[in-house]
Amino acid sequence: MSNRRDFLKNTALSGAGLMLASPLAAYTGSPNETIKIGVMGVKSRGDFLAKKFATLSNVKVAYLCDPDAQVLAKCTDELTKQTGTSPQGFSDIRKMLELKDLDALVIAAPDHWHAPAAIMGLQAGKHVYVEKPCSHNPREGELLVAASNKHKGLIQMGNQRRNYTNVQEMIKQLHKGVIGRAYFARAWYVNARKSIGKGNVVNPPAHLNFDLWQGPAPRRNYQDNLVHYNWHWFWHWGTGEALNNGTHELDVVRWGLGVDYPSQVVSSGGRFHFQDDWETPDTQTISFKFPNNTGCTWEGRSCNSFETEGGGRGVIFYGDQGTLVYPGGNSFKVYDLGNKLISEVKDTTPFDPANPVSPMEKQDTLHLVNFCESIRGKEKLQSPILEGHKSTLLPQLGNIAYRTGRALNIDPSNGRILNDKEAMKLWGRTYEKGWEPLV
Ligand SMILES: NC(=O)c1ccc[n+]([C@@H]2O[C@H](COP(=O)([O-])OP(=O)(O)OC[C@H]3O[C@@H](n4cnc5c(N)ncnc54)[C@H](O)[C@@H]3O)[C@@H](O)[C@H]2O)c1
Repeated sequence: MSNRRDFLKNTALSGAGLMLASPLAAYTGSPNETIKIGVMGVKSRGDFLAKKFATLSNVKVAYLCDPDAQVLAKCTDELTKQTGTSPQGFSDIRKMLELKDLDALVIAAPDHWHAPAAIMGLQAGKHVYVEKPCSHNPREGELLVAASNKHKGLIQMGNQRRNYTNVQEMIKQLHKGVIGRAYFARAWYVNARKSIGKGNVVNPPAHLNFDLWQGPAPRRNYQDNLVHYNWHWFWHWGTGEALNNGTHELDVVRWGLGVDYPSQVVSSGGRFHFQDDWETPDTQTISFKFPNNTGCTWEGRSCNSFETEGGGRGVIFYGDQGTLVYPGGNSFKVYDLGNKLISEVKDTTPFDPANPVSPMEKQDTLHLVNFCESIRGKEKLQSPILEGHKSTLLPQLGNIAYRTGRALNIDPSNGRILNDKEAMKLWGRTYEKGWEPLV
């Protein structure tokens, strides 16, 4: 590890802001050395990631970070039982990033933290695994791509279907023309989420450092129906179902249709099912047109889990020679133009679309392996962050179309909104002073 220590010995985090002293070299250890990981946010998905990374050979989950002391203690105890060694705990990510022997930062904090923390990680010379969506808004996605180009660390988003074995085969077949020219995709996600009610403004619980929880987001009062998980449905911190789950299927759509940025986006929906504090739509459709004469729709239903085409999530690709049905896991079926089943690729991996942490654990792990093996120089990332950004941008544009209530025309060369100043106001966000991400 001496090389790495030498490279990193001048690491210095500035006190308040996210700007670090200078770009630093990333992992320089030999391919077989142990990769030391620190996980940020260990309640639900982060707890899963910490425990799964810890099962990989030559990977040590040495550090955990969470501003909720109860959450941190629980994950620490369980990981200690699993591995026999106790990870060191932090409440402040800035302190964890000062560690010279930390190789990779895994981010599973709420969405408003994703891009700012990922940029901090890259600037500190770390590799970064950032959960989807990789950004809270389009500007942050662009910043993340710029940071990735500037710094040496690898960065991968949690769009794990890129490493699902049969999904890779499905995309190969699509691109080879198994249904002719695929020109339209229909994607969906359904769930039966309960109301979050009307919250009361109260003091945060003693075990939660709400200031660190908010981090880059301008300060708001704590309310008792926000932490944990329900922040997903508040625009200030979350991004709604379209990014929470739509990102996964829209990533597969973009990959399958072979498209980057759209040329037109429309969206409609509402908070139809319950009347409560939930701000994002619980029912939403988004339609995209792409410049290669293809298109897609995504439908999200957060509060009515009636399945579409026999599944809680998935994508159907329509082509001029047939149809391909992907039920969201690791299997697919191909039909000819007469709607006759012509081939089927099955998977025996258990798949639970309603599991919010990891609907498909075994296949999910392959994405983590790909990240670690890429750090070692033995593999290439199946989905570099530019791909993650493009897929995150689709539902972000959908949400902007929904919030402005009109069709957006998009520059297909870079994904930016054309001739609409009001829509562009939602391109970025404001930040708590001292926490602005800078590249
Ligand atoms: N790839 C996938 O399939 C998948 C599945 C589930 C969740 N996710 C993503 O993972 C993220 C987390 O989701 P969740 O359901 O676990 O949310 P959650 O609210 O249950 O947990 C988030 C945790 O992050 C912690 N946190 C907040 N600020 C922090 C900070 N400054 N430093 C460290 N920790 C901080 C919180 O205290 C909490 O413990 C979300 O962005 C979600 O979209 C991805």
